[in-house]
This record gives sequence, C-alpha cells and structure tokens, in this order.
Amino acid sequence: MKKILVIHGPNLNLLGQREPKIYGRVTLDAINSELKKIAKIRKASLVIKQSNHEGEIVDLIGKAKNKFNAILINPAAYTHTSVAIRDALAASGILTIEVHLSNIYSREEFRHKSLISPVVKGTIMGFGAKSYVLGLQALLDLLDV
Ligand code: DQA
Repeated sequence: MKKILVIHGPNLNLLGQREPKIYGRVTLDAINSELKKIAKIRKASLVIKQSNHEGEIVDLIGKAKNKFNAILINPAAYTHTSVAIRDALAASGILTIEVHLSNIYSREEFRHKSLISPVVKGTIMGFGAKSYVLGLQALLDLLDV
C-alpha cells in the first residue's frame, strides 16, 4: 500500500473562520475527510499533520524518508519564507506536490514567490479546497494507484 504524508502549514487549522473571502468556509477537518475518502477508494494510506512551527515541519519531512512514497504539502506562509522547508524537501528526494487554496499570484506581491515550487514535482493553486483533491489525485496517478 502506498503511503502519503499530508502536511498543512501555519494557520490552516483556522480554515473555515479565517479570511473566508480568500480561503472559503470549508474547514480543515472537512478537507481531511475528503482526502481520506479518496485515499480509501484508491487503496492508499494517508497520514495527515498540521503544524504552525517551521522546525516541526522540517522534522516531519526529515523523518518521512523510507516511510512515505509521497508528500502533499500546503506550506502556507512558509511558502514565501522557508529555506529550511525547501531544503528538507530537496534532501528527502520524496515525490512532492505543493498546493494552495488561493492563487498566490493574484494576491499581494510578497506572496508571488514560492521558495518551495522549484523543488517539488508540481504546484496546484487557486481552486480552494479542490486544490488539495487535485493534488492528491495527481500524486496517486503518479504513484500508479
Ligand atoms: C496559502 C497561501 C499563502 O500565501 C498563505 O500564507 C496561506 C495559505 C493558500 O493555501 O492559499 O496561509 O498557502
């Protein structure tokens, strides 16, 4: 069975209440349930983590080697700042897809740069909660399950 690690970065625990005009009304629990449903149908296993702490995310990625076949990550605000998360992903060599609820290029200029995108297989953004679904489906297709 293929194993996928889903990582939600800072403030994504607040989805549903947080800036709903940008991020929608869907909660993180609802997103996670949808992802679990898809994984079950495709017979893959999911481990889902949310963290507001950069070092914790670095540790999760570091420990994922030889344990997970792929990572689905929304690095949230760390997308634009974290050399450490980028380096952890590059070092892990694990197949990774980056997702964002919003289209970071249609927002403030400081969001226009992702430090993560150059080290991942691909990035899906701008489709709200659906970005996660599309990201997971793409990973499952790439893993051939
Ligand atoms: C986000 C976009 C980031 O710029 C922001 O800091 C987030 C969420 C998104 O999913 O649209 O927290 O990653």
